[in-house]
Amino acid sequence: MVRAHIITYGCQMNEYDTHLVESQLVSLGADLVDSIDEADFVLVNTCAVRGKPVDKVRSLLGNLRKQKATRRLVVGMMGCLAQLEEGQQIARKFEVDVLLGPGSLLDIGAALESNTRFWGLHFKDELHDHIPPAPQGKLQAHLTIMRGCDHHCTYCIVPTTRGPQVSRTPDSILRELGGLLAAGVREVTLLGQNVNAYGIDQGAKLAGMPSFAELLRLVGRSGIERIKFTTSHPMNFTEDVAIAMSETPAVCDFVHLPVQSGSNAVLKRMAREYSREKYLEHIAQIRRHMPAAVLATDIIVGFPGETEDDFQQTLDLYDEVGYDSAYMFIYSPRPGTPSYKHFADLPRELKTERLQRLIVRQKDWSGRKNAAKVGTYQEVLLRGDAHDSGFLEGHSRGNHPVVVPKAVGADTAGIYRVKIGHATPHMLYGNIVGPGGEALPELPRLTPEAVAAPLMML
Ligand code: 5AD
Ligand code: SF4
Repeated sequence: MVRAHIITYGCQMNEYDTHLVESQLVSLGADLVDSIDEADFVLVNTCAVRGKPVDKVRSLLGNLRKQKATRRLVVGMMGCLAQLEEGQQIARKFEVDVLLGPGSLLDIGAALESNTRFWGLHFKDELHDHIPPAPQGKLQAHLTIMRGCDHHCTYCIVPTTRGPQVSRTPDSILRELGGLLAAGVREVTLLGQNVNAYGIDQGAKLAGMPSFAELLRLVGRSGIERIKFTTSHPMNFTEDVAIAMSETPAVCDFVHLPVQSGSNAVLKRMAREYSREKYLEHIAQIRRHMPAAVLATDIIVGFPGETEDDFQQTLDLYDEVGYDSAYMFIYSPRPGTPSYKHFADLPRELKTERLQRLIVRQKDWSGRKNAAKVGTYQEVLLRGDAHDSGFLEGHSRGNHPVVVPKAVGADTAGIYRVKIGHATPHMLYGNIVGPGGEALPELPRLTPEAVAAPLMML
């Protein structure tokens, strides 16, 4: 029997794909094991969006090649990097046996049966409506509603690795959701490179397909308690989505709207298709319909040609929006993208220095936003005890990470009412409270020492 182990880099799409391939492996009779050492088939699910995850894959594959000399081991590579010439070169160098691009995941069975090197790099239609079995014992699950992307941001490799956008049918999405509900899932995150363009593949609305706003309402009627989604391109975040969010109680008031830069000149070179002013209009629209919306973004610093003034405009935009959180990246030139080909990279030190200044701004805002949550009640989905530390971890409806001490009567995964007692820029700390707001009996109190413990672990 094959003993398989998958290591996952990258985004939530990759986590979903790992689950999909794991469930295929199980249905083919493989045993999933918890570590590389126990496995005789190791698959690396790769990310190609920046240089760093590629470097990590390279060093892991180097390590695995060494192990191949001492024991029977089949090594595979799947995900975005596998689809690129860059990845295939790496695969040849490190003697990778199996290669599966993001559109070829269902070839895993053929790959296992093959006695020679197996490279699957074709996009197969069956994947789009393939329904993986629900994860067991989880309260949270991902659900891919579309694959690929039709935008052409000049820095981004994803349109090359994942191809053009293909939306799944609502029927297939709702069937997968039904399975998740039956398995006890209470929060679902709808996934796609640009979920707001759902049903509008290659710029044209597909006949009979609901819009993303309509899909949110459909999913909202399924009985699932919490709905999140990621990620959104600002140009496709239309007002009907904000209205559907505000009118669908299960949809969480959390919006991840990547801005990338606050400078119109940079946005233009990135081919983001919107201006700073247009982006701010989208934010105003979201706030109008959802005054309590928690806002997160992605920002790239040091895009080619970014001047000090351009960067200052990003900092100013950060203040103008007042984001709750942000994922911040140094521009990473990716072979195969237009910006790699046409623009010169800025010096490393300059990019690093700007990132540090942006992080200061982000921490300041996140600190203030989180501090304002002290004393409030949050509905928190606690995933269970990740570290066996006497604490439970989870997320609020606004997607804030939350830590609580285990309480009598509430020491397992579930959705709880939590009164926030303490906040840092990255974390809320609280205690579980009863329905009337009263502290549960024998509730361990948060002390500063107890607060420090999970901070060090996370
Ligand atoms: N360099 C740095 N960051 C990038 N991202 C995408 N491509 C690059 C790149 N070449 C970031 C964007 C995107 C997030 C997933 O990764 O901010 O929103
Ligand atoms: Fe996800 Fe993009 Fe990385 Fe692929 S390249 S794993 S889609 S972040």
